[in-house]
Amino acid sequence: MARVREISQVAITGTGMAVPPRIVTNDELSKIMDTSDEWIRQRTGIEERRYVAPGVSASDLALEASQKALATAGLNATDIDFVLVATLSPEQYFPGTCSFLQAKLGLSTTSGLDIRAQCSGFVYGLEMGQALIASGQYKRILLVGVEVQSPALDLTDRGRDTAALFGDGAGAVILEAAKNPKHGIQRVITHIEGKHADKLGVQYPSAIGGVWIKPEHIADGGVSPKMDGRFVFKHAVTRMPEVINEVLLDQGLSVPDIDLWLFHQANLRINEHIAQGMGIPVEKTYNNIQKYGNTSAATLPMLLDECRRDGRLKDGDRIMMTAFGAGFTWGSALVTWGK
Ligand code: COA
Repeated sequence: MARVREISQVAITGTGMAVPPRIVTNDELSKIMDTSDEWIRQRTGIEERRYVAPGVSASDLALEASQKALATAGLNATDIDFVLVATLSPEQYFPGTCSFLQAKLGLSTTSGLDIRAQCSGFVYGLEMGQALIASGQYKRILLVGVEVQSPALDLTDRGRDTAALFGDGAGAVILEAAKNPKHGIQRVITHIEGKHADKLGVQYPSAIGGVWIKPEHIADGGVSPKMDGRFVFKHAVTRMPEVINEVLLDQGLSVPDIDLWLFHQANLRINEHIAQGMGIPVEKTYNNIQKYGNTSAATLPMLLDECRRDGRLKDGDRIMMTAFGAGFTWGSALVTWGK
């Protein structure tokens, strides 16, 4: 009984991010596979991405981003009572990355879990975090999106269509009850269309077929991401506007009411296509794919942290964050900035 409280709004009270120092340019990739700076820039907008050094894991990057988010919220790790970690590149098949991060944060028995919703994981995390705080179950949640994808990439001609896209990084936010009832997460809507799960993913290791992994799975590249790029592109440019419109309709808002548009960073062309189609002015968008490539679940919290540090976020600003990813999963979150 004691935990039932009336929380009207859940705010983002801190943000942080971490990327490894090693910059990998398109030219560097073109030395190890049949690609070029021109092809990657023209088709995706990516100029460079970051790769971790050997031995650096998802929980290491997540720790750095989390510590920065805690500092901006004026909190210590022990003030957190639940940890959500969205990732498609966990450091082990199990246990989940949350367990490793929880230990590195110095927490004793604080609860948490991993979210497996790929590039949409952060939007799902906002949905879960809002519900868990609004219900009175928890008071302060650390939500992290983190990816260490570089070790799984097939850095050969065979893997060039996906290897050129992905990078490593982490972003974190703190979720708490809003002090101003007008601020905070206004609405989150997510979807899955599981029938397209085979269009983007990493196939092995897999229990299907009764064998966890065989040497030929490694030799055939089955342990690296595989994507039907054109199919994914078409669905992304359809589903992202659809879910944005669902949120706008639900909130009685229209495109000019939004102050900042943050899209998942899979391809700059996807985001330009959506912005153009919806009449979104370019100055109300912010992209970082040029510097980091596609950092999957880490993308949205990294964008948010960069915008906060650049002074782009003013109290009362309406921010629409939208993602699309493997599964297929997609979703959109409307947040009014401020505590
Ligand atoms: N360098 C050079 N050439 C490459 C290449 C690379 N890194 N990757 C693929 N190519 C080649 C292909 O082999 C193909 O050659 P071909 O015409 O001789 O067969 C050609 O470029 C065109 O390939 P295609 O896959 O049709 O290119 P595209 O214009 O569709 O662009 C993507 C590829 C991946 C950039 C694009 O499809 C995309 O962004 N898809 C969506 C990704 C996404 O949204 N993911 C979201 C979830 S994370």
